[in-house]
Amino acid sequence: MKSLIKFLLFNIFFLLFLSCSQENNKEKYKIGFSQAMTTDNWRREMNKEMRVEASMHPDLNLEIKDAENHIAKQITQIEGFIEEKVDVLIVSPIQSIPITPVIEKAMNAGIPVIIIDRKIEGRNFTAYVGANNIEIGRNAAKYIISHSKGEARIIEITGQEGSSPAFERSTGFKNTLDSVPVLQITHTLRGDWEKASIKEPLSSLLDSVPAPDYIFAHNDRMAMGAWEVARSKSLEKEISIIGVDGLFGPNGGIQMVKDGLLDVTLLYPTGGSEAIKLASDLINGENIDKYNILRTVVIDSVNVGIMQNQFNKMNQQQNDIEKQQAFIESQIKTYNSQSNLIKIMIVLSLLLLALTSWSIYLVIKIKKSKRELEINHKKIIIQRNQIEDFAEKLKLSNESKINFFTALSHEFKTPLTLITSSIESISDKPEKDLRGITNETNLIINNSKRLLRLINELLDFRKLESGTFNLKPVRTKIIPFLSSITEDFRAEALKRSINLSFTANGKDTEIYVDSDMIDKVFFNILSNAFKFTPKNGSISIEVKEFENEVCIYFKDSGIGIPKEELTKIFNPYSQASNNSKPSSGLGLYITKQFVELHKGKISVSSHQGAEFKICLLKGKAHLSEYQLSEMEIETGARSEYNLPEPITSVELNEEDQGDEHAESILIIEDNIDLSGLLKSRLGKEYRIFLSDGSDGVDKALEIIPDVIICDLNLPDKTGFEICRILKNDLRTSHIPTIILTALSDPESEIKALRSGADYYITKPFSFDILMESIKSALYNREKLRYYYTNKIDQVSEEDFDSSEQSFLKELNSYIEANLRNPEFSVEELAANLGISRVQLYRKVKALLGISVNEYINAQRLGKARNLLQDSSMNISEIAYEVGYSSPGYFSTSFKNKYGVSPKHFKS
Ligand code: FRU
Repeated sequence: MKSLIKFLLFNIFFLLFLSCSQENNKEKYKIGFSQAMTTDNWRREMNKEMRVEASMHPDLNLEIKDAENHIAKQITQIEGFIEEKVDVLIVSPIQSIPITPVIEKAMNAGIPVIIIDRKIEGRNFTAYVGANNIEIGRNAAKYIISHSKGEARIIEITGQEGSSPAFERSTGFKNTLDSVPVLQITHTLRGDWEKASIKEPLSSLLDSVPAPDYIFAHNDRMAMGAWEVARSKSLEKEISIIGVDGLFGPNGGIQMVKDGLLDVTLLYPTGGSEAIKLASDLINGENIDKYNILRTVVIDSVNVGIMQNQFNKMNQQQNDIEKQQAFIESQIKTYNSQSNLIKIMIVLSLLLLALTSWSIYLVIKIKKSKRELEINHKKIIIQRNQIEDFAEKLKLSNESKINFFTALSHEFKTPLTLITSSIESISDKPEKDLRGITNETNLIINNSKRLLRLINELLDFRKLESGTFNLKPVRTKIIPFLSSITEDFRAEALKRSINLSFTANGKDTEIYVDSDMIDKVFFNILSNAFKFTPKNGSISIEVKEFENEVCIYFKDSGIGIPKEELTKIFNPYSQASNNSKPSSGLGLYITKQFVELHKGKISVSSHQGAEFKICLLKGKAHLSEYQLSEMEIETGARSEYNLPEPITSVELNEEDQGDEHAESILIIEDNIDLSGLLKSRLGKEYRIFLSDGSDGVDKALEIIPDVIICDLNLPDKTGFEICRILKNDLRTSHIPTIILTALSDPESEIKALRSGADYYITKPFSFDILMESIKSALYNREKLRYYYTNKIDQVSEEDFDSSEQSFLKELNSYIEANLRNPEFSVEELAANLGISRVQLYRKVKALLGISVNEYINAQRLGKARNLLQDSSMNISEIAYEVGYSSPGYFSTSFKNKYGVSPKHFKS
C-alpha cells in the first residue's frame, strides 16, 4: 500500500509538470527583430504594430532589439539572434551595405529573414516589406508639377546616405521632375533623417539664395525642421513644404498638414504588422511573396481630414484591440493561474483521496489488529482463568488429600490408643484379676475391626483409582441379602432405641451383583445412618421393584447434609461440614463407584435427615462379556469384617462421680471408647465428669473442675476454641488444661499453648504420662495455693498471670472499697464480679486455697496491722476502720492470725 501511494503521488506530480510545461511550450516560435533605432515615432509605431500583431499569434514570441542607429551594434544583435536559432529574423537595416553579410549569415544558418523598410544589397533574404520609395519620390514630384504655375525653385532634403529609402526617394523625385524643365531642384541638402541635421545648412542656404517655392524633405521630421527654418525667416507662407511618413498623432505628418505647416505628406506605412503576419505564415509553412510592397497615399489639405478621421478610427480600433488584447491576456493569465490552481487542487484532492484511502486502510488494519489483539487477550484470559481454575482445583485436591491423610492418621490413632491402653491395663493387672478383662478385650476387638475396615477402605480406594476392580456378578436375591445386612444393625438399634425398619414390595427378586461390593455399599450407607442418627431416632430401608430396576431407599432422622454440599458428598476425601464423626472420607466415594460399576445409580437428598437412593438394574444386559464370564453361580458369603462396630462399647455412668472430696477432672472427648476408658482408669482417684465436646464450655463453668482434659478434634467447637474460652473466663481461667490429641504437629501444639493449654499430650499416649501430668498440674496449683495462703494479706495481682491478675485486681478493689462495711457479704462481692457465689467460692478456693470469707477477713486484718504500725489511731478506731463492729472480736481475730493481740503488736 505504501508503494501504491508513492506511485500515485509520482504520477500526479508528473502530470502536473507535463501540463505546466505544455503551457510554456505554446510560445515555442521565436521571432527576433533587429530595429535600427527607436528615437522617432515612426519606428515606435512600427514596433507597436509588431507587438500588437504578434499578440494575435499566441504561438509566437517576439523579441525586439534596438540597435540605436549603430551599425556594429545591429550586426552583433543579429548574430545573437542567429546563435539563439530564432525561427524568423526580421531586420530593419540602418544602412544597406554594412548589414548585408550578417543577413547572408542568417540565411545560411537556415533562418528565414524578412527585411523591412530599408533594403540590403542583393536578394539574399526571404522577404521584403515596405512601400515603394521610388514611387514616393515620384508622387512628391507629381504634386509639385500639378500645383506649380510656371517656373518653380525646389530644394530637396534627403535622408541618410547609404540607406535605400533616401536613394530611391531621390531617384523617383528627380526622374519625374526631369520632364518639366521649369521645375528645378536648385539645391540638395543631405540630412540624416533628423531635423537637427538640416536646420543649420538650410538656414544658411536660405540666407544666401532666394527663397525656394518648394522644399521636398525625405521625411516629416526633416520637413518640420525646414518649416521651422522658413518661419524663422518669415518665409513659411512662401515656401510649400512636402514631407514623407504621414504619421498619425500630435507631432505626426497628418497633423502638420492639417495645421498648414506642410503642404503634403506622403504616407509611408511602417509595415510592422505585415512583417509579423509574414513571419507567422513562414512558420506555418505557407508560401509568401518575396516583395510585399505597401501602398502609399498623398495626403494634402484636400484629404487630410478624411485621413485623420480614418486614422482616428483605426487608432481607436487599434486601442480597442489592444484593450481586448490586454483583457484577453489577463484572462489567459487568470485562466492559466486558475487552471494551475485547479490542477493543484486536483492533485491535492487526489493526494487527499490517497491519504484518506490510506487512513481508512490504516484504520481498518488497526481495527483488525485490535480485534485480533482483543481475541488473543480474551484467549489469554480464558487460558489464565483455566490455569487458575486448574491450580485452584489442584490446590483443593491437594488440600483434601492432606486433610484426608491427616484425618486418616487420626482415625488410626484413637483405636490404637484404645488398643494399647487396654493391653497396658491387662498387663498391669495381677494374674488373679485377668478373668474380668472383658471390657479391655472388647475394646481391643472392636477397635481392631475398625482399623481393619479403614485399611480395607483404603485398599478398595487404591483399586478403584488404579481401575483394577473387576465386577464378579452373582445372581442374588436382593431382598433377603439386604435384610440380612439390616439385621446386623438390629442390636445397635435396640441399644440406642433407634427405630430400624425394613420394608420390601417383593421377596424373590434376583439381580446380578458383586455381592461383596453391594454388601459394602449397603453396610456403608447403614453405618452412616447410624452414625448420624441420635438416640430414639429412626432409620428406614425400603426396597421397591420396578420393571427394569430395583431401588433401595435409606432414610434416617439424623442431622442430614447441608444442601450446598450434596453434590460434593460423593467426592473422595470429602466430609460434610456438619460431620465431626471419625471418618476416612472415602466411604461414600467407594459406595458410588461400586454402584456405578454395576451401571446402577446412587443419589442423595436431605430434608429431615439424609435419604440415599440406590437403583440397581435387573437382568444381565448391563454386564460385559468378561463380567459374565467371571460370574459366580453361588451366592457369596458376606465378609466377616463387615459386622458393625457398636457405636458405644463402654457403658458410661455419668452420675457415678466417686469420692466427693477427691479432685475433679472434666474430660472433653467425643470418642466414647476413649472417654469411657479414661473414666474407668482415672475414676479410681478422681471425680470424673464427661463431655462429648458439644457442651464442654458449659460443663466446665458449671463444675469448675480442678483439671480439664480436652481433645482438639471435636464437634461444634474445636479444643482450641474451648481452651481459649475457658482461659479467658474469670471463672475458669485458673483451671489447668491438658490437651489430649492425635494432632502431633508442632503448629497445633503451639496453637494449643497459645490458647492457654498447660499440657499437650499426643495420641497414642501413655496412660502413666497422662496420670503424671494430671498430678503435676494439681501439685503446682497446690504449691501456689500454699504460698499465697501463708501470705494471703500480701498477695498482689502481679503474683498471678494476666487473667488471674485482672480477677484479683477487681476482687481486691471491691474488698478495699467495702473494708469499713461490716455488712459486706460474699453474695454482694460475687454480684459485683458478675459471677455466682459458688463460682466465686470455687475460683478463690482454687486460686488461694481459702474461702472468700477467709480472704476478706485476711484483707481486713492485714490493713489493721498496717494501721497499727503506721497510724496514731487507737485499737477501737482501727477495728471500725477495717469493718469490725466489735473491737473485742477484732482483737480475738487478730490474735488468732498473728499470734499477738493488737495492743501488744502496737507497743
Ligand atoms: C524613420 C525614418 C522615416 C523614413 C524612414 C526611411 O527612422 O527616418 O522617417 O521614412 O526612416 O527609412
